[in-house]
Amino acid sequence: MKDFSYQDRIAVYPGSFDPITLGHIDIINRALKLFDKVIVLVLFNYRKKPLFSLDERVRLIKKATEGNEKIIVESFKGLLVDYLKQNNIRFVVKGMRAISDFEYEFQQHLVNSKLFDVETVFFMTKFEYNFLSSSLVKEIAYFGGDISPFVPSNILQDVLERMDKFKMEVD
Ligand code: PNS
Repeated sequence: MKDFSYQDRIAVYPGSFDPITLGHIDIINRALKLFDKVIVLVLFNYRKKPLFSLDERVRLIKKATEGNEKIIVESFKGLLVDYLKQNNIRFVVKGMRAISDFEYEFQQHLVNSKLFDVETVFFMTKFEYNFLSSSLVKEIAYFGGDISPFVPSNILQDVLERMDKFKMEVD
């Protein structure tokens, strides 16, 4: 329990982060212009089968954001609203890519705000990251393409090694 007060300018940035990309990093940095602290929260997305475990994803995000004390990285096995309630946080940050994300994000916001008094702040994704997704990164890596323009440089090797392990398991 972190015991943040309602006035604290703290936001949760929830997602699968499987793995974290430069698009996510951009959203975190822009959110830090509005909020004093951003909690990057790795959650379970019922609709996706992740490549990285929750712990691996937390470790990668910590490595990609190390040195910035305004960024907290955690995982949670449950509803986003339950994490928000337990920690007394009312702000959620999300990135929104052109058109494709809108319906899904709108639905998530409506459901979350029905369950708890929460505000979602959307950052429109930068032009250069508009096409980018973790799924695309995994697909490119799986087929041996260059993912270095899409993931933080200090986790590139970790992502490639995990993908190699996965390929050995399935091939
Ligand atoms: O990066 P993603 O996969 O688009 O993030 C979706 C995520 C993980 C934020 C969403 O699936 C989520 O909040 N999962 C936790 C469970 C939950 O609260 N579900 C209800 C939201 S409608």
